[in-house]
Amino acid sequence: MKNRIYFFTGTGNSLNAAQNIVKALPECELIVIRKDTPLEVPTDYERVGFVFPNYSGGPPKMVANFIRNMKLPNQNNTYLFAVATYGGNAGSIIAQIGEQLKQRNWQLHYGAAILSYPNAVTIYPMIKGVRLFTRIAEGRTKRVVKKIVTKQLLSIPVLKESAQKRYENYMAQIPNSDSGYHVNDACISCGICKKVCPAKDITIDDGKPVFHHQCESCMACIQHCPKRAINYQDKTQKRGRYAHPDVDYKMIIRYYGQ
Ligand SMILES: Cc1cc2nc3c(=O)[nH]c(=O)nc-3n(C[C@H](O)[C@H](O)[C@H](O)COP(=O)(O)O)c2cc1C
Ligand code: SF4
Ligand code: SF4
Repeated sequence: MKNRIYFFTGTGNSLNAAQNIVKALPECELIVIRKDTPLEVPTDYERVGFVFPNYSGGPPKMVANFIRNMKLPNQNNTYLFAVATYGGNAGSIIAQIGEQLKQRNWQLHYGAAILSYPNAVTIYPMIKGVRLFTRIAEGRTKRVVKKIVTKQLLSIPVLKESAQKRYENYMAQIPNSDSGYHVNDACISCGICKKVCPAKDITIDDGKPVFHHQCESCMACIQHCPKRAINYQDKTQKRGRYAHPDVDYKMIIRYYGQ
């Protein structure tokens, strides 16, 4: 029987985890979550999974919207799993995704969080240790893959009201989080920022990116810009940039860039 994984990524950690799960499952399709992802989810698949980054104890807005609107008349025997990559505080991510699926009458069978490189450059500096984080994430992903292959069941924790509020408050400000972005003269008008953006939030006007306040706060534009021409307020000029070492920006463009 077939398997399917839906994913969302900004800097490649979640795409890399998703690709490793895909390799371990027979006939596994990898589907990107973006605005035009078809909402119909097949009912006769053996496993359906969601892989995405943790944003303040929940999935990105676009993933939450997909789950809210997806069309799956009947879960039947489909094993449902969720895997969140996170940078140091997984919070209530599994409870949150479990609750969002429950609202749609889906039962989450298994959920796991994978410690990965913390990528939120608008909030904190990019620390040393990319290779170490990559190794840790690889090891954890291997263990998670085994559990998904053998269809392990996990008792999904109940979502606390305080965690729900924190996530909702955070999510409410996300679309406008691009307001602090500006572009300097180093910009070469290559359009990479536009192409890696999962939200189609960027247009290139007169050779420079313009942001349209439909942001997902995924960090892809600021992290993948080859000239480091995008900055956030006065916070990121001296900070490094990060992308998963095995996930080239071109790979992300293949999923988001049309
Ligand atoms: C907007 C935003 C919010 C984040 N919030 C959290 C968080 O609450 N806890 C955490 O551990 N990591 C957090 N992170 C870090 C990411 O979850 C982590 O780096 C993830 O692996 C990035 O995945 P990606 O490379 O697939 O985009 C956040 C990152 C961003 C961009
Ligand atoms: S990725 Fe950087 S250099 Fe390329 S268009 Fe965007 S801001 Fe300019
Ligand atoms: S504008 Fe930048 S941070 Fe916002 S969704 Fe697009 S790529 Fe991500």
